[in-house]
Amino acid sequence: MKKIEFFRHSIDKDDRKRTDAVLKSIFLTTGKEVETFEKKFSAYTGLNHTIGLTSCTAALHLSLISLGIGHGDEVITTPLSFCATANAIIHAGATPVFVDAEEETGNLNADLIGSAVTGKTKAVIPVHLYGQMCDMIGIRSSAAEYDLRVIEDAAHAIEAERDGIKVGHASDVACFSFYATKNITSGEGGAAATNRKELDDSLRMLRLHGIDRSAADRYTRHYQHWDMPVLGWKYNMDNIHASLLVGQVDRIDDLWQQRDGIWKLYEQELVSVRGIEILKTLDNVRHARHLFTILVPPRKRDAILWNLQDHNIGVAVNYRPIHLLKYYRERFGYKEGDYPVAEDIGERTISLPLYPSLREKDVKYIVKTLKKIL
Ligand SMILES: Cc1ncc(COP(=O)(O)O)c(C=O)c1O
Repeated sequence: MKKIEFFRHSIDKDDRKRTDAVLKSIFLTTGKEVETFEKKFSAYTGLNHTIGLTSCTAALHLSLISLGIGHGDEVITTPLSFCATANAIIHAGATPVFVDAEEETGNLNADLIGSAVTGKTKAVIPVHLYGQMCDMIGIRSSAAEYDLRVIEDAAHAIEAERDGIKVGHASDVACFSFYATKNITSGEGGAAATNRKELDDSLRMLRLHGIDRSAADRYTRHYQHWDMPVLGWKYNMDNIHASLLVGQVDRIDDLWQQRDGIWKLYEQELVSVRGIEILKTLDNVRHARHLFTILVPPRKRDAILWNLQDHNIGVAVNYRPIHLLKYYRERFGYKEGDYPVAEDIGERTISLPLYPSLREKDVKYIVKTLKKIL
Protein backbone atom coordinates (compact mmCIF):
# COMPACT_ATOMS: atom_id res chain seq x y z
CA MET A 1 0.00 0.00 0.00
CA LYS A 2 1.42 3.34 -1.08
CA LYS A 3 1.79 5.86 1.72
CA ILE A 4 -1.05 8.33 2.11
CA GLU A 5 0.93 11.47 2.86
CA PHE A 6 -0.32 13.86 5.53
CA PHE A 7 -0.17 16.68 2.99
CA ARG A 8 0.48 17.20 -0.69
CA HIS A 9 0.64 20.70 -2.14
CA SER A 10 -1.34 21.75 -5.22
CA ILE A 11 1.40 23.61 -7.10
CA ASP A 12 0.77 22.89 -10.79
CA LYS A 13 2.52 23.20 -14.14
CA ASP A 14 1.43 26.81 -14.66
CA ASP A 15 2.74 27.79 -11.21
CA ARG A 16 6.08 26.21 -12.07
CA LYS A 17 6.12 28.05 -15.42
CA ARG A 18 5.54 31.31 -13.61
CA THR A 19 8.41 30.60 -11.21
CA ASP A 20 10.61 29.59 -14.13
CA ALA A 21 9.92 32.95 -15.78
CA VAL A 22 10.98 34.75 -12.60
CA LEU A 23 14.13 32.64 -12.39
CA LYS A 24 14.94 33.54 -16.01
CA SER A 25 14.43 37.23 -15.25
CA ILE A 26 16.97 39.52 -13.66
CA PHE A 27 14.89 40.43 -10.62
CA LEU A 28 14.53 37.79 -7.91
CA THR A 29 13.81 39.78 -4.77
CA THR A 30 10.73 41.87 -3.87
CA GLY A 31 9.38 43.37 -7.09
CA LYS A 32 6.60 43.08 -9.69
CA GLU A 33 5.65 39.49 -8.90
CA VAL A 34 5.20 40.33 -5.22
CA GLU A 35 3.06 43.30 -6.27
CA THR A 36 0.92 41.02 -8.46
CA PHE A 37 0.47 38.57 -5.58
CA GLU A 38 -0.41 41.38 -3.16
CA LYS A 39 -3.03 42.81 -5.55
CA LYS A 40 -4.64 39.42 -6.15
CA PHE A 41 -4.64 38.56 -2.44
CA SER A 42 -6.25 41.92 -1.61
CA ALA A 43 -8.90 41.30 -4.27
CA TYR A 44 -9.64 37.90 -2.73
CA THR A 45 -9.85 39.04 0.90
CA GLY A 46 -11.50 42.37 0.10
CA LEU A 47 -8.90 44.08 2.30
CA ASN A 48 -7.26 47.19 0.84
CA HIS A 49 -3.63 46.35 1.59
CA THR A 50 -1.61 43.13 1.50
CA ILE A 51 2.04 43.09 2.54
CA GLY A 52 3.97 40.01 1.33
CA LEU A 53 6.29 38.64 4.00
CA THR A 54 8.49 35.62 4.70
CA SER A 55 6.08 34.02 7.21
CA CYS A 56 2.99 34.41 9.32
CA THR A 57 5.28 34.65 12.35
CA ALA A 58 6.86 37.72 10.74
CA ALA A 59 3.38 39.13 10.01
CA LEU A 60 2.32 38.71 13.66
CA HIS A 61 5.59 40.21 14.91
CA LEU A 62 5.49 43.26 12.62
CA SER A 63 1.77 43.80 13.25
CA LEU A 64 2.39 44.01 16.99
CA ILE A 65 5.31 46.42 16.48
CA SER A 66 3.31 48.53 14.01
CA LEU A 67 0.49 48.81 16.54
CA GLY A 68 2.98 50.12 19.11
CA ILE A 69 2.92 47.01 21.29
CA GLY A 70 6.11 46.10 23.13
CA HIS A 71 7.88 45.97 26.49
CA GLY A 72 5.57 46.04 29.49
CA ASP A 73 2.46 45.24 27.43
CA GLU A 74 0.28 42.14 27.63
CA VAL A 75 -1.42 40.45 24.70
CA ILE A 76 -4.24 37.96 25.13
CA THR A 77 -4.27 34.84 22.99
CA THR A 78 -5.14 31.14 23.04
CA PRO A 79 -2.88 28.32 24.25
CA LEU A 80 -4.37 26.04 21.56
CA SER A 81 -2.29 27.16 18.60
CA PHE A 82 1.12 26.71 17.05
CA CYS A 83 3.83 28.22 19.28
CA ALA A 84 4.44 30.93 16.63
CA THR A 85 1.38 32.85 17.84
CA ALA A 86 2.69 33.36 21.37
CA ASN A 87 6.35 33.49 20.30
CA ALA A 88 5.61 36.56 18.14
CA ILE A 89 4.25 38.35 21.21
CA ILE A 90 7.50 37.62 23.05
CA HIS A 91 9.55 38.69 20.00
CA ALA A 92 7.75 42.04 20.16
CA GLY A 93 8.86 42.37 23.79
CA ALA A 94 5.36 41.88 25.24
CA THR A 95 3.92 39.10 27.42
CA PRO A 96 1.40 36.55 26.16
CA VAL A 97 -1.59 36.00 28.43
CA PHE A 98 -3.68 32.94 27.62
CA VAL A 99 -7.42 32.43 27.88
CA ASP A 100 -8.85 28.96 27.47
CA ALA A 101 -10.49 27.54 24.34
CA GLU A 102 -14.17 26.80 23.70
CA GLU A 103 -15.09 23.13 23.99
CA GLU A 104 -17.29 23.19 20.90
CA THR A 105 -14.79 24.58 18.40
CA GLY A 106 -11.36 24.73 20.08
CA ASN A 107 -11.23 28.46 19.33
CA LEU A 108 -10.30 31.16 21.84
CA ASN A 109 -13.29 31.67 24.16
CA ALA A 110 -14.30 35.29 23.63
CA ASP A 111 -16.31 35.32 26.88
CA LEU A 112 -13.07 34.92 28.87
CA ILE A 113 -11.25 37.96 27.46
CA GLY A 114 -12.62 40.39 30.08
CA SER A 115 -11.35 38.23 32.95
CA ALA A 116 -7.78 38.30 31.56
CA VAL A 117 -7.59 42.06 30.97
CA THR A 118 -5.25 44.07 33.23
CA GLY A 119 -3.99 47.64 33.07
CA LYS A 120 -1.22 46.38 30.77
CA THR A 121 -3.38 44.58 28.17
CA LYS A 122 -3.00 46.15 24.73
CA ALA A 123 -4.23 43.59 22.22
CA VAL A 124 -5.83 40.25 21.54
CA ILE A 125 -4.74 37.69 18.94
CA PRO A 126 -7.56 35.29 18.06
CA VAL A 127 -6.48 32.22 16.08
CA HIS A 128 -9.02 30.81 13.63
CA LEU A 129 -8.23 27.24 14.56
CA TYR A 130 -8.27 24.60 11.81
CA GLY A 131 -10.01 27.13 9.52
CA GLN A 132 -13.09 28.02 11.56
CA MET A 133 -13.30 31.68 12.51
CA CYS A 134 -13.47 32.78 16.13
CA ASP A 135 -16.44 34.75 17.40
CA MET A 136 -15.23 38.07 15.98
CA ILE A 137 -18.40 39.89 17.09
CA GLY A 138 -17.70 38.91 20.71
CA ILE A 139 -13.98 39.66 20.37
CA ARG A 140 -14.66 43.03 18.75
CA SER A 141 -17.01 43.98 21.51
CA SER A 142 -14.51 43.07 24.29
CA ALA A 143 -11.81 44.90 22.33
CA ALA A 144 -13.99 48.02 22.18
CA GLU A 145 -14.82 47.77 25.91
CA TYR A 146 -11.16 47.48 26.97
CA ASP A 147 -9.59 49.49 24.13
CA LEU A 148 -7.60 46.60 22.69
CA ARG A 149 -6.13 46.21 19.21
CA VAL A 150 -7.13 43.00 17.39
CA ILE A 151 -4.64 40.99 15.28
CA GLU A 152 -6.10 37.90 13.61
CA ASP A 153 -3.89 34.84 13.31
CA ALA A 154 -5.46 33.65 10.07
CA ALA A 155 -2.75 31.11 9.22
CA HIS A 156 -5.49 28.47 8.77
CA ALA A 157 -8.24 30.66 7.49
CA ILE A 158 -7.76 32.60 4.24
CA GLU A 159 -11.15 31.46 2.93
CA ALA A 160 -13.05 31.81 6.21
CA GLU A 161 -16.16 33.78 7.03
CA ARG A 162 -18.47 33.90 10.06
CA ASP A 163 -21.66 35.83 10.79
CA GLY A 164 -21.24 37.47 7.37
CA ILE A 165 -17.79 38.80 8.37
CA LYS A 166 -14.83 37.77 6.24
CA VAL A 167 -11.43 37.16 7.72
CA GLY A 168 -9.58 40.42 8.40
CA HIS A 169 -12.70 42.59 8.34
CA ALA A 170 -13.32 42.90 12.09
CA SER A 171 -9.77 43.56 13.24
CA ASP A 172 -6.84 45.92 12.76
CA VAL A 173 -4.84 43.43 10.73
CA ALA A 174 -4.92 39.74 9.73
CA CYS A 175 -1.85 37.51 9.38
CA PHE A 176 -1.59 34.64 6.89
CA SER A 177 0.80 31.73 6.37
CA PHE A 178 1.93 30.09 3.15
CA TYR A 179 4.02 27.51 4.99
CA ALA A 180 4.54 24.11 3.32
CA THR A 181 1.27 22.51 4.53
CA LYS A 182 -1.05 25.51 4.29
CA ASN A 183 -4.08 25.85 1.99
CA ILE A 184 -1.94 27.76 -0.50
CA THR A 185 1.81 27.49 -0.15
CA SER A 186 5.19 28.67 -1.34
CA GLY A 187 7.12 26.42 1.03
CA GLU A 188 7.66 29.33 3.38
CA GLY A 189 5.81 32.63 3.16
CA GLY A 190 3.28 34.88 4.80
CA ALA A 191 1.34 38.10 4.52
CA ALA A 192 -0.33 40.77 6.61
CA ALA A 193 -3.55 42.33 5.30
CA THR A 194 -5.32 45.43 6.57
CA ASN A 195 -7.69 48.21 5.64
CA ARG A 196 -5.61 50.73 7.59
CA LYS A 197 -3.29 52.76 5.35
CA GLU A 198 -0.92 53.79 8.16
CA LEU A 199 -0.45 50.14 9.14
CA ASP A 200 0.30 49.28 5.52
CA ASP A 201 2.96 52.02 5.43
CA SER A 202 4.53 50.81 8.66
CA LEU A 203 4.49 47.10 7.73
CA ARG A 204 6.07 47.84 4.33
CA MET A 205 8.87 49.81 5.89
CA LEU A 206 9.49 47.37 8.75
CA ARG A 207 9.63 44.34 6.45
CA LEU A 208 12.83 45.71 4.88
CA HIS A 209 15.04 47.00 7.71
CA GLY A 210 13.04 50.21 8.12
CA ILE A 211 14.47 51.49 4.82
CA ASP A 212 12.34 53.98 2.89
CA ARG A 213 13.13 52.61 -0.61
CA SER A 214 12.73 49.03 -1.83
CA ALA A 215 15.31 47.33 -4.06
CA ALA A 216 12.89 47.86 -6.95
CA ASP A 217 12.79 51.61 -6.16
CA ARG A 218 16.57 51.72 -5.97
CA TYR A 219 17.52 49.71 -9.03
CA THR A 220 14.78 49.74 -11.65
CA ARG A 221 14.83 53.51 -12.26
CA HIS A 222 17.54 56.13 -11.80
CA TYR A 223 19.41 55.20 -8.65
CA GLN A 224 17.78 56.62 -5.55
CA HIS A 225 19.51 57.16 -2.23
CA TRP A 226 17.68 55.76 0.73
CA ASP A 227 17.39 56.50 4.40
CA MET A 228 16.45 54.34 7.39
CA PRO A 229 14.06 56.31 9.57
CA VAL A 230 13.23 53.37 11.85
CA LEU A 231 14.77 50.03 12.84
CA GLY A 232 13.10 47.20 10.93
CA TRP A 233 13.58 43.50 10.13
CA LYS A 234 14.33 41.39 7.04
CA TYR A 235 10.95 39.86 6.37
CA ASN A 236 10.18 40.81 2.73
CA MET A 237 8.61 38.25 0.40
CA ASP A 238 10.63 37.76 -2.82
CA ASN A 239 9.49 37.34 -6.43
CA ILE A 240 10.28 33.61 -6.45
CA HIS A 241 7.92 32.80 -3.58
CA ALA A 242 5.28 35.21 -4.89
CA SER A 243 5.33 33.50 -8.30
CA LEU A 244 4.30 30.20 -6.67
CA LEU A 245 1.34 31.87 -4.96
CA VAL A 246 -0.21 33.95 -7.77
CA GLY A 247 -1.90 31.04 -9.55
CA GLN A 248 -2.93 29.41 -6.28
CA VAL A 249 -4.79 32.59 -5.29
CA ASP A 250 -6.67 32.35 -8.60
CA ARG A 251 -7.59 28.73 -7.84
CA ILE A 252 -8.21 29.18 -4.11
CA ASP A 253 -11.97 28.61 -4.13
CA ASP A 254 -11.64 25.63 -6.41
CA LEU A 255 -9.06 24.10 -4.04
CA TRP A 256 -11.39 24.88 -1.10
CA GLN A 257 -14.29 23.15 -2.86
CA GLN A 258 -12.23 20.00 -3.25
CA ARG A 259 -11.19 19.98 0.43
CA ASP A 260 -14.78 20.69 1.46
CA GLY A 261 -15.89 17.56 -0.41
CA ILE A 262 -13.27 15.44 1.36
CA TRP A 263 -14.21 16.97 4.72
CA LYS A 264 -17.87 16.05 4.21
CA LEU A 265 -16.91 12.53 3.20
CA TYR A 266 -14.85 12.15 6.41
CA GLU A 267 -17.79 13.43 8.49
CA GLN A 268 -20.20 11.08 6.78
CA GLU A 269 -17.91 8.08 7.25
CA LEU A 270 -16.95 8.90 10.84
CA VAL A 271 -20.29 10.01 12.29
CA SER A 272 -21.19 6.59 13.61
CA VAL A 273 -17.73 5.50 14.75
CA ARG A 274 -17.68 5.01 18.52
CA GLY A 275 -14.72 6.57 20.31
CA ILE A 276 -14.28 9.42 17.80
CA GLU A 277 -15.54 12.96 18.19
CA ILE A 278 -15.35 15.74 15.63
CA LEU A 279 -15.29 19.43 16.59
CA LYS A 280 -18.36 21.29 15.47
CA THR A 281 -18.60 23.41 12.33
CA LEU A 282 -21.01 26.17 13.34
CA ASP A 283 -24.02 27.04 11.14
CA ASN A 284 -23.10 30.64 10.40
CA VAL A 285 -19.58 29.81 9.26
CA ARG A 286 -17.67 29.26 6.04
CA HIS A 287 -14.98 26.93 7.37
CA ALA A 288 -11.67 27.25 5.52
CA ARG A 289 -11.25 23.44 5.80
CA HIS A 290 -7.57 23.60 6.70
CA LEU A 291 -7.08 20.77 9.19
CA PHE A 292 -9.44 17.84 9.65
CA THR A 293 -9.02 16.77 13.26
CA ILE A 294 -10.64 14.03 15.28
CA LEU A 295 -10.75 13.64 19.06
CA VAL A 296 -10.01 10.19 20.47
CA PRO A 297 -9.83 9.00 24.11
CA PRO A 298 -6.82 10.74 25.73
CA ARG A 299 -4.74 7.80 26.88
CA LYS A 300 -5.13 6.10 23.50
CA ARG A 301 -4.12 9.02 21.30
CA ASP A 302 -0.45 8.29 20.79
CA ALA A 303 -1.05 4.57 20.20
CA ILE A 304 -3.69 5.40 17.56
CA LEU A 305 -1.36 7.95 15.99
CA TRP A 306 1.52 5.48 15.67
CA ASN A 307 -0.79 2.74 14.52
CA LEU A 308 -2.07 4.97 11.71
CA GLN A 309 1.54 5.66 10.70
CA ASP A 310 2.26 1.92 10.75
CA HIS A 311 -0.59 1.61 8.25
CA ASN A 312 1.14 4.14 5.95
CA ILE A 313 -1.13 7.03 6.86
CA GLY A 314 0.43 10.45 7.51
CA VAL A 315 -0.82 12.20 10.65
CA ALA A 316 -0.09 15.27 12.77
CA VAL A 317 -1.01 16.70 16.17
CA ASN A 318 -2.40 20.25 16.14
CA TYR A 319 -1.69 21.13 18.91
CA ARG A 320 -0.34 20.23 22.31
CA PRO A 321 -1.04 23.54 24.06
CA ILE A 322 1.62 26.24 24.11
CA HIS A 323 1.58 26.85 27.88
CA LEU A 324 2.84 23.29 28.51
CA LEU A 325 5.87 23.58 26.21
CA LYS A 326 9.14 23.54 28.17
CA TYR A 327 10.05 27.19 27.50
CA TYR A 328 6.64 28.46 28.56
CA ARG A 329 6.50 26.30 31.69
CA GLU A 330 9.96 27.44 32.75
CA ARG A 331 9.62 31.10 31.89
CA PHE A 332 6.03 31.71 33.01
CA GLY A 333 5.44 28.88 35.51
CA TYR A 334 2.54 27.29 33.63
CA LYS A 335 1.41 23.83 34.66
CA GLU A 336 -1.14 21.16 33.83
CA GLY A 337 -4.65 22.21 34.71
CA ASP A 338 -4.15 25.92 33.87
CA TYR A 339 -6.23 25.74 30.64
CA PRO A 340 -8.29 22.54 30.88
CA VAL A 341 -10.19 22.79 27.59
CA ALA A 342 -7.05 23.40 25.52
CA GLU A 343 -5.30 20.59 27.40
CA ASP A 344 -8.17 18.17 26.83
CA ILE A 345 -8.20 18.84 23.07
CA GLY A 346 -4.38 18.77 23.02
CA GLU A 347 -4.34 15.28 24.57
CA ARG A 348 -7.00 13.87 22.30
CA THR A 349 -6.47 15.41 18.88
CA ILE A 350 -5.22 13.76 15.70
CA SER A 351 -5.10 15.54 12.33
CA LEU A 352 -5.86 13.36 9.31
CA PRO A 353 -4.76 13.97 5.70
CA LEU A 354 -6.75 16.70 3.92
CA TYR A 355 -5.78 18.10 0.52
CA PRO A 356 -7.30 18.32 -2.96
CA SER A 357 -5.50 15.32 -4.45
CA LEU A 358 -6.62 12.98 -1.62
CA ARG A 359 -8.92 10.41 -3.22
CA GLU A 360 -12.23 9.02 -1.99
CA LYS A 361 -10.64 5.59 -1.68
CA ASP A 362 -7.86 7.06 0.50
CA VAL A 363 -10.46 8.52 2.88
CA LYS A 364 -12.28 5.18 3.00
CA TYR A 365 -9.01 3.35 3.73
CA ILE A 366 -8.15 5.85 6.50
CA VAL A 367 -11.58 5.43 8.11
CA LYS A 368 -11.50 1.64 7.78
CA THR A 369 -8.05 1.58 9.38
CA LEU A 370 -9.18 3.86 12.19
CA LYS A 371 -12.14 1.59 12.94
CA LYS A 372 -9.86 -1.43 12.99
CA ILE A 373 -7.40 0.28 15.36
CA LEU A 374 -10.15 1.45 17.70
C1 LIG B 1 -2.03 28.96 13.80
C2 LIG B 1 -0.68 29.27 13.26
N1 LIG B 1 -0.15 30.48 13.49
C3 LIG B 1 1.05 30.83 13.00
C4 LIG B 1 1.79 29.96 12.25
C5 LIG B 1 3.13 30.38 11.75
O1 LIG B 1 3.17 30.41 10.38
P1 LIG B 1 4.57 30.55 9.61
O2 LIG B 1 5.19 29.21 9.59
O3 LIG B 1 4.18 31.04 8.25
O4 LIG B 1 5.36 31.54 10.38
C6 LIG B 1 1.29 28.69 11.96
C7 LIG B 1 2.08 27.76 11.13
O5 LIG B 1 2.02 26.58 11.14
C8 LIG B 1 0.02 28.33 12.48
O6 LIG B 1 -0.50 27.12 12.24
